[in-house]
Parts: sequence; C-alpha cells; structure tokens
Amino acid sequence: MNSFKFQKILAIETSCDDTSVALVDMDGYVLGILNQASDKDHELHGGIVPEIASRNHTLFLLPLIESLLKNHNVTMGEIDGFVVTGRPGLIGALIVGLMTAKSLSLATQKPFIAVNHLEGHLIAPFLRDKEYQPKWTCDQSCIALAVSGGHSNIYLYKGLGNYEILGATKDDAAGEAFDKFGKLIGLGFPGGSKIDYQAKSGDPKKFQFPRSMMVSDNLDMSFSGLKSSAQRLIESLSPMERTRELNHLCASYQEAIVDVLIYKLRNALKKTKLKRFFITGGVSANSRLRSKAEELAKNMKCEFMIPPLRYCTDNAAMIGYAGIMRLNLGEASPLSLGPSPSSWPQDFTDKRTI
Ligand code: KG4
Ligand code: ZN
Repeated sequence: MNSFKFQKILAIETSCDDTSVALVDMDGYVLGILNQASDKDHELHGGIVPEIASRNHTLFLLPLIESLLKNHNVTMGEIDGFVVTGRPGLIGALIVGLMTAKSLSLATQKPFIAVNHLEGHLIAPFLRDKEYQPKWTCDQSCIALAVSGGHSNIYLYKGLGNYEILGATKDDAAGEAFDKFGKLIGLGFPGGSKIDYQAKSGDPKKFQFPRSMMVSDNLDMSFSGLKSSAQRLIESLSPMERTRELNHLCASYQEAIVDVLIYKLRNALKKTKLKRFFITGGVSANSRLRSKAEELAKNMKCEFMIPPLRYCTDNAAMIGYAGIMRLNLGEASPLSLGPSPSSWPQDFTDKRTI
C-alpha cells in the first residue's frame, strides 16, 4: 500500500481575471498566498475582457510563483504536487494556469491535479491560517450558498466531492446583478464592493425593487427582473437625482438581492433540517449579507461560517486545499488534460425538482 502523503502543494488560480498562487498544506493551512488583480485594466472596458485576462495571467503568473517561493524560503523540489483550476472559466485564462501546472509537473516529475473552481469556493471556509480557523471540519454536512460573479447556487454540502445542487439562479448571478447595477449607476466595474460601500449610508427602504421567486418554496433564484426594474427607475431620474439618491439606490438594490439570498438560505435550512450553513464566493464579502446571515443563524439556532474576505473572492488557496485532499485520496490528472468552460456532469449532483 502506498502511504505517501502530499504535505505541501503549489496551487494556481487563473479561471477569470485574478491571478493567484498559494502554498497549502494537507490540513488546509495556508503557508503563503500572492494575488494580482487586473480590475483596473478591465474597468476601462466596463467588464472582463477575456483576452486581457489571459494576457495578464501570462505576465503575472510565473513572477508570482517565483516571489511566493522566495518569500517563504521554499524550493520547487520541496513541493509535493501542483493544483490548478481546470474548469469552469474563461478558456484562454484557464489555459495559462493549466499549462503552467502541467509544465511544472513534467519538469519536476511530481503529480498535478485540475479541480473545479466552484469546488474551491465550497472548500474555502475550511482553510486555516494564523488568524482564521473554521468552526467545523470539512467532512460534516451543511447548507452552502455560493454566490459569485458567475454563479448563485445553494448546495447540500456533504463533504469533499459530495455536493448536491438544491437551487440555482435561472438567469443572472447575484454578483452579476451587483456589477450590472454598478455600471448602470456609474460606479464602474466591478460594482459589488462599491455598492456595498455606498449602501452603508443609504436607506434600504427608500426605493422598491422586486424580489423574484420569493413565493415559491423551491430554492431557485432570479435576478434579471431586478436589473430591468433598476434600469427603468434610473432612466426616470435626472442626473442630479441619481447623484443625490446614489446611496439610497445602492442600499435599496442591495437589500433586494440580500433578501432573496437569505430567504432561499432559510428555506434550504428548513427543508433539510440542517443546523449549519456557510456562505462563500465573492458576494459573501458583502457586509449586509454578512450581518443578515448572522441574524438568520441566531434566529434558526444554527452555526454558520463566512470565510474572511481574502478567501471569499477568487484565490488559489481554496483550489489548493481541494486539490491536496484529492491528491491524498490517490487522484491525479493526466498531462493530456484540457480546460473546460463549464463544470463536468460528475462534479455536482443536480437535485432540483424542475
Ligand atoms: O468569487 P469571485 O471573486 O469571482 C467569481 O468567481 O465570479 O466573485 C466576484 C463577484 C463580483 O461580481 C463582485 O462584484 C462581487 O463578487 N463582490 C461583491 C462584493 N465584493 C465582491 N458583491 C457585493 N458586495 C461586495 N462587498
Ligand atoms: Zn469564483
């Protein structure tokens, strides 16, 4: 029997616009992480430009790896394997990370594994470092809400590799809804954190925005009606009114998204009778969602976790922990593996009724 354990891996995340590398150990301890964002380059174009994302990963990735190893006094020879995001994502962006991981694997004769980006978000709450410890271990069942720029899903999380989709958005993701409103109202891209900031001094009841699918007891969501309603409202306001009402518009719009997410989370907890949940993905950085989640946990007598901001948004540490656990289960990817723009059918079990 092979008793070799992968102690330490180098992880790479390049599925979208952020370039991130991390050193993670077998217990999910983050030994080091370095990120380079490209927001400024994409902001000029009002959204993520795939070619710019790929080009920037090409520019940033190897220097980041070099600095990470140097900062932590680790040589390539001390790394037991390589983990990379293989899907879903922008193909050109994924290729840069995947080819780098495969090349390092070939050169060092150490295994590599490509993991699903969304699995990374589901494992993120279980990372640990000097300041952060998870409240429970990653083998325990709970409800997971994953909300990012590309996804809004509710899962029954049952441990590594065992994820049942209970609900998902029918159209826009929650992050996309934030970003579209940010553009509409002139805050630039990405809008999520800017709306969050403006909303802090606004009245969430000042404007009425629709909350879709709040009557149904299924766990699917929809945010496209919200965006259209916001567009109509903004068009009816003068430029002066838009400026004067900016913080109230942001607070009211944010409240509509948060209300839907919390309603769906509450339904999922009621349906499954589970007493634990976590929220992950870029939108879990939202301060209103965080405080409403805390209230929900108190009301429903649940334990809950939201990873710190550094592990909420896209990062290589979450990819690394998912990958090292899989490597330690005997999995690895072949050098012939290619990237995929979408998840594989076997990544998640879809338990939605219709
Ligand atoms: O997980 P992530 O970094 O990338 C994807 O996998 O999509 O999520 C990015 C999304 C963007 O839509 C961004 O606007 C949103 O997360 N976001 C926020 C906040 N910070 C980031 N949304 C609301 N409030 C925030 N504070
Ligand atoms: Zn993500």
